Amino acid sequence: MKLVIGNQKSYMHKDQMVSFVEGTKDKVKGTDYVIMCASDMFFYLFEGTDYKIGAQNVSITESGPTTGEVSATQLKSMNVTYGLVGHSERRQNQEETDVQLYEKLMRLFEQEINPIFCIGESRTCRAEGKGEEFILSEITGVFDKLTTEDISKLIVAYEPIWAISDGKSPSVIPTNDEIRDITVVIKNFIKEKYGAEVQVLYGGSVNMKNVDELNLIEEVDGYLIGGASQDPANFGYIIDSQKK
Ligand code: PGA
Repeated sequence: MKLVIGNQKSYMHKDQMVSFVEGTKDKVKGTDYVIMCASDMFFYLFEGTDYKIGAQNVSITESGPTTGEVSATQLKSMNVTYGLVGHSERRQNQEETDVQLYEKLMRLFEQEINPIFCIGESRTCRAEGKGEEFILSEITGVFDKLTTEDISKLIVAYEPIWAISDGKSPSVIPTNDEIRDITVVIKNFIKEKYGAEVQVLYGGSVNMKNVDELNLIEEVDGYLIGGASQDPANFGYIIDSQKK
């Protein structure tokens, strides 16, 4: 059984969210492996369901005079138990740096919220054969400042940027062998360098059509799912695929 973690990004508005929660709450009932990283203003819609709630972002500063930010304490008060840090869209669009990502991790640790730390190489980086080197540098850039105890509390999500759906072009994802190999590299690297064992997720165009194949990769501990976490049938299928 793998973790099924949705990342709803800023796809849906309220009415769509209400139907999504309505359409999947029975699938989630009785499970403990489904987490939804929803938009902050929709957290309340998941109350009374068996979804665990994740945040898509957290402020680097604690509660205070920071207009437009959402602090880790505020997330905690909304029953948030997971938080994304370092998603490639934020690294690119908000130009988030390693120093900021470290601060975000610390705010989450302080509130005992489990971070999901995202890494992944671009298409160009992969074409140049520098994918592995790049993702290991994303790890060291932040983990060098963390304790073994802290690293053991986080989850790593490997999301090759070129495989993340853009909603337009058909998705191309790595083969099972490629995903297995890089997952093992990440786990071994973190074990050897920091003495910590971490769970590693795969993310990038996971959906109801490819999940049965992906489920064959034992080394992968779960999925981070963007586009398919908008559609009750699609996300519901992925949840059910872990019950078999
Ligand atoms: P995708 O997104 O499933 O739409 O490719 C994954 C992610 O960005 O977390």
